[in-house]
Amino acid sequence: MIIEPKTRGFICLTSHPKGCEQNILNQIEYVKERPVKNGPKKVLVIGASTGFGLASRITAAYGSNAATIGAFFEKPPTEGRPASPGWYNSAAFEAQAHKDGLYAKSINGDAFSNEIKAQTIDLIKADLGEIDLLIYSLASPVRTHPDTGERFKSVLKPIGSTFTDNTVDFHTGEVKEISIAPCTEDDIKNTVNVMGGEDWQMWIDELKSAGVLSKKFKTVAYSYIGPSLTEAVYRKGTIGRAKDHLEATAFKITDTLKDVNGKAYVSVNKALVTQASSAIPVIPLYISLLYKVMKEKGIHEGCIEQIERLFNARLYAENLELDEAGRIRIDDWEMREDVQAKVLELWKQATTETLPEIGDLKGYETDFYNLFGFKVEGVDYDEDVNEIVSIPGLQ
Ligand code: NAI
Repeated sequence: MIIEPKTRGFICLTSHPKGCEQNILNQIEYVKERPVKNGPKKVLVIGASTGFGLASRITAAYGSNAATIGAFFEKPPTEGRPASPGWYNSAAFEAQAHKDGLYAKSINGDAFSNEIKAQTIDLIKADLGEIDLLIYSLASPVRTHPDTGERFKSVLKPIGSTFTDNTVDFHTGEVKEISIAPCTEDDIKNTVNVMGGEDWQMWIDELKSAGVLSKKFKTVAYSYIGPSLTEAVYRKGTIGRAKDHLEATAFKITDTLKDVNGKAYVSVNKALVTQASSAIPVIPLYISLLYKVMKEKGIHEGCIEQIERLFNARLYAENLELDEAGRIRIDDWEMREDVQAKVLELWKQATTETLPEIGDLKGYETDFYNLFGFKVEGVDYDEDVNEIVSIPGLQ
């Protein structure tokens, strides 16, 4: 079939297998040229099919020859209906990894559930014996608690007072004011339940009691801080509370891992266009200005550049520098004073008329379409493609 993008707000309902494949091949090429010395060998990535998790899987596999198991929650294709992009990404990654002699298997289902945890542990036991790295990169709007069956929904709201500022509809380029009413106490609780650290801890507890964590095992989850511009809706909003919880959980997990000499980290990453971040109000306008500034300064990075730097310059480097709160920072270039001062200056000037000039709306839009395999260089979108693609190592 010929597959075209069908967007609705900040989501795209279709995705393109060839475009997703090309994205994977590009990321693999990038990492192959930057091997990770003393990198991981047996890796589990939770949230492995898109964004930072996918880049982590590719970096482990192609930077360090690691065997990888990827867990994710993606929609398979049916006749006439393309899969979700993470499905095509995983299919392309595994096909290439197998061609290159790398172990790669996947588990598709709700990683918050006890069943998926058990299935993953069985697979580790059967095939790898143990793992030396777990990347926790879930981004989900909902979580069903595995023990109580309660279903939590996360929200992106300010705490305490209404937040009003500009955002952009990147499809139309219209810059407009939005107001978001403050959350309730329940909203905070629910968001922490979905995006906080409880599930990460549960994974570690299960993996540890199954005896599948190697000595010197490491685990990393991803967080975000960002500037004062987005603070009310991000770091000091409901999602920020969840990130506080996630960051506090890293210390608890490190305690849990004492006897295997293991360590848990949170890495604070840069703001990037992913399916998760396009849903956050104000962030698209911030990102389009940030991209412009960082590209002009020659310090722009995408997910793969960020994660390759995380592995090579932080996690597996000789000295791992942490910030005052014990976190890894790869948002250092985003948060540079000169970068933030410029973004703030542009923010004040941003209108529907000025944004195409002062911001990188095109870059934002291209990145958004790329997430779904569209507008990828070198792909012929007029060519008939088979939407039915299987993931070779799917369990
Ligand atoms: P994403 O939306 O690209 O990826 C989410 C992944 O989670 C996908 O693999 C998806 O299949 C998987 N997933 C979602 N629900 C699942 C479930 N119930 N069971 C199994 N898998 C499930 O998200 P992105 O942006 O890569 O986010 C990953 C982490 O990075 C999040 O913690 C996010 O807060 C953090 N982060 C994101 C930044 C950004 O600007 N995008 C910046 C800094 C941190």
